[in-house]
This record gives sequence, C-alpha cells and structure tokens, in this order.
Amino acid sequence: MRAPLAGANVLITGGASGIGKALALGAANRGAARIILWDIDEEAGGAVVDEIRSFGGRAECCRVDLTDPESVIEAGAQTLSAGRVDIVINNAGIVTGKRFLELSEDDIARTFDLNVLSLYRVVRQFLPGMIERKKGSIVTVASAAGLVGVSRQTDYSASKFAAIGFMESLRAELRHDGTPLHTLIVQPYYVNTGMFDGVRTRFPRLLPILDVDDVADSILDSMEAGRQSLVMPAFAAAIKLMKVLPVPVLDTITDLFGVNGTMDGFVGREGERRQES
Ligand SMILES: NC(=O)c1ccc[n+]([C@@H]2O[C@H](COP(=O)([O-])OP(=O)(O)OC[C@H]3O[C@@H](n4cnc5c(N)ncnc54)[C@H](O)[C@@H]3O)[C@@H](O)[C@H]2O)c1
Repeated sequence: MRAPLAGANVLITGGASGIGKALALGAANRGAARIILWDIDEEAGGAVVDEIRSFGGRAECCRVDLTDPESVIEAGAQTLSAGRVDIVINNAGIVTGKRFLELSEDDIARTFDLNVLSLYRVVRQFLPGMIERKKGSIVTVASAAGLVGVSRQTDYSASKFAAIGFMESLRAELRHDGTPLHTLIVQPYYVNTGMFDGVRTRFPRLLPILDVDDVADSILDSMEAGRQSLVMPAFAAAIKLMKVLPVPVLDTITDLFGVNGTMDGFVGREGERRQES
C-alpha cells in the first residue's frame, strides 16, 4: 500500500507553519490535486495557500480548532462537501517544555487534547470514506519523544507515546478487518521550525537538529514508497533496540548522549513571541 501524491486530495492539520507548511508545499510540488490545510491560524494558512496557488497548485485553508470537537465536525462536513480526501496528515501539535511540577492541569489537558484527542476527531471524519473506497492513507507526525521519555517532556512525550499507540492500534484494526489502507508513523528528533527553539544536541553528527524541508521530503518519500514507520535521523531508531537493556544501562546511554539536557535552554514559541514584542 502506497500513498502516491500525484492527483491526491491531501489534508494536513497544522499546515500553516513548520513541518505542515513544508509538507503542503512539497505535496503540491509533487502534483497533489487539492491541498486542504486545517489550522487555527487562518492568516498564516492563507499565506501558504497563496504560495501554492502562485505556482499553479490548488489549495484551501479552513480555520479549525482541533481541540474543539464541533469545530472539527463542521470542518469535516465542509471539506467533504467539496470532494473526497485521500490522505490525512495529522501534524498539528504543541509543547510546553515545562518541568513536571510546573505543569498546570490545563497545560496537560491542552497538550493531550491537541496531540492525542484531535487524532480521533480528525480520523473519524475521513476513515469511513477511505474504508468504502478501500483506498487512503493516514499519516501521523508523532516524535522521537515517543521512543523514550525525556526531561521536561512528561506531558509532550507521554502524548506522543499515546499518538503512536493510537496509530499502531488503528493499523492493527484495519489489517484485522482486511481493509487495505496505508498508515505511517513519523518520529523525528528536533526540527528547526521554532517549536523547540533553544534546544541543544550534544552529538550533532549522530543526532542533528533536522532541517524542516528535509523532514518534509522524507515524509513524502516514505508515503510514496509505502513505508509505515519513519524515524529521523535513522540513528535515533537504535533506541528501540536499546529498550531491551536494563534500565540503568539505558539511562547511562541516554545521559551519555545528553538527551536529558537537550531541553535545558528550551524557549520554544514563547521565546519567539517574547523576541517579537
Ligand atoms: N519541531 C520539532 O522539533 C518537532 C520534533 C518532533 C516532532 N514534532 C511534531 O511535528 C508536528 C509539527 O510541529 P512543528 O514544529 O511544525 O510545529 P509548528 O508550531 O511550526 O506548527 C504547528 C501548527 O499547528 C497549529 N495549531 C496549533 N494549535 C492548533 C489547534 N488547536 N487547532 C488547529 N491547529 C493548531 C499551529 O497554528 C501551527 O500552524 C507536531 O506534532 C510536533 O509535535 C516537531
């Protein structure tokens, strides 16, 4: 099962910025018939739509708050009234970067609402059509933080583990029911979009801060090749094997790679906003 982009109608959540924006531009460049951006930031989404239209692509942006079930249902009906959706890319996400004891109940709820619960809301809109056509693709941009827990990510990392559990179970259910749909779980290490501004990496040759356009290209290549799992950089996938090691050994290895210090200088998008004001 592959997810060819030429001629496909592709919906991208969080498509107004960062990885979602790069995916939208890349998919349009690869001949997607219709790009549908779902984002809470209508202005930034509109700018991406203009850019796609400037080189002859077809795109639209729908203002959706993915944490509001009604907003997602409304957007689903609006999107489907203009035609089918072949590929859904669950990409929108947030991070607080706070230590566990600094997290408010609201911080945790907002993170899970967007990074986990919205996946159910979005996929529910488009899966019935895909099952009926026996064709379609569900892609979720999770994170390498869904491979191993990281300091200052008790909310974020847990939400990404949950996103991966959601996708693995969905894949299992579709296979069990004999429904031939494509699924892809994407797990990037840090990417230079601004979301994780301030993070540091100890061994940039092995664990580099990834370039957003390279990440988008790899995701689109993986979809077209029919891959079902993508960890970036490839070296980060070694953590899956290391999980069989005793916990103190695993902890020593992650300390050696400085994994738990990566967030020490984190400012994220808040830092970006402080600089602007
Ligand atoms: N940047 C990284 O280092 C990194 C690393 C691994 C995984 N990821 C994951 O990749 C995905 C994209 O990250 P990014 O770096 O491009 O982030 P980003 O902040 O650049 O983009 C996120 C987009 O989601 C939108 N959004 C936020 N809340 C929303 C809501 N309630 N409803 C609808 N849209 C909403 C924002 O407006 C924005 O356009 C996220 O799921 C993130 O967790 C990012």
